Amino acid sequence: MGRLAHRDPLRRAYKGGSQPRPADPPAMSSTAAVRESYQKFNPRAYLQNNYMPPRADFSSEDCVVPWKLRCLAEAFAAGEIHGRTLIDVGSGPTIYQLLSACDHFEEIIATDFLEVNREVLRRWVRGEPSSFDWSPYIRHVCRIEGKGEQWKEKEKKLREKLRQILPIDVHQAEPLGSPLGRLADALVSTFCLEAVSPDRPSFERALRNITALLKPGGHFLFIGALEESFYLAGEAKLSVVPVSEADVREALGKAGYQIHDFRSYVMPPSLQIGVDDTRGVFFVHAQKQPVA
Ligand SMILES: C[S@@+](CC[C@H](N)C(=O)[O-])C[C@H]1O[C@@H](n2cnc3c(N)ncnc32)[C@H](O)[C@@H]1O
Repeated sequence: MGRLAHRDPLRRAYKGGSQPRPADPPAMSSTAAVRESYQKFNPRAYLQNNYMPPRADFSSEDCVVPWKLRCLAEAFAAGEIHGRTLIDVGSGPTIYQLLSACDHFEEIIATDFLEVNREVLRRWVRGEPSSFDWSPYIRHVCRIEGKGEQWKEKEKKLREKLRQILPIDVHQAEPLGSPLGRLADALVSTFCLEAVSPDRPSFERALRNITALLKPGGHFLFIGALEESFYLAGEAKLSVVPVSEADVREALGKAGYQIHDFRSYVMPPSLQIGVDDTRGVFFVHAQKQPVA
């Protein structure tokens, strides 16, 4: 049997649910179909599904959101990852993935394919009151970093360092459209590549495309879903290429990375809430091999 064949959690999730039932995704034969499917992506619903309780429960380190924040905090605390420019690939409407990074870089460039997500980020940078409330995340990260930083200081610092919010398409050989003029010292990417790739060859190509943005010897913090086939964002049902730990390791090796740390999180039944069918989450700290 295929990895995730014959499962239809969507039907179960939408029995009596309050959100409208999403349309089935188009057949994902090409990256063009994936781009089309993202036109219905609803940032508010996506944030609600993934970044509110029960998945964002800061009282338990076993919960998925605190697990991700700890992986990132520990990677940056080790002191190796720093520099002038960090690029976040496929930021979506979220900033949690940049909270520990912002102490270690002069500037952070957020990117996303969708204007609607870039606008959500710009509104947060401007401090608009209707923005998603990231304050529990910022407080939590200040707590686990243990440096005595006030959360308002960290919020201000990230807003100041998030100087550019750019369009990106990871399926292009030049994902930012034109060269930035310099290579990034580090990359972060969370839940993007597997969620926008129709198959594994495309996932591997997208990884190679974004690796071209990183300087040799630069660090990559890579988080994503394990063995996921779909997720919901309002009326959009997005197809995801299911990847295993071995697939992720292989793709990183082929793209020229050395893996320094690889961690996995198993999604507990209490967090399987019908908004996706992910089995878990991977976190990787990898380094692009210097040119010989
Ligand atoms: C699952 S969301 C991840 C958002 C965020 N990074 C997070 O951690 O929750 C996937 C993101 O990929 C973006 N995306 C879709 N197609 C893309 C493409 N071709 N290139 C880059 N990003 C794309 C979507 O707009 C969406 O924001």
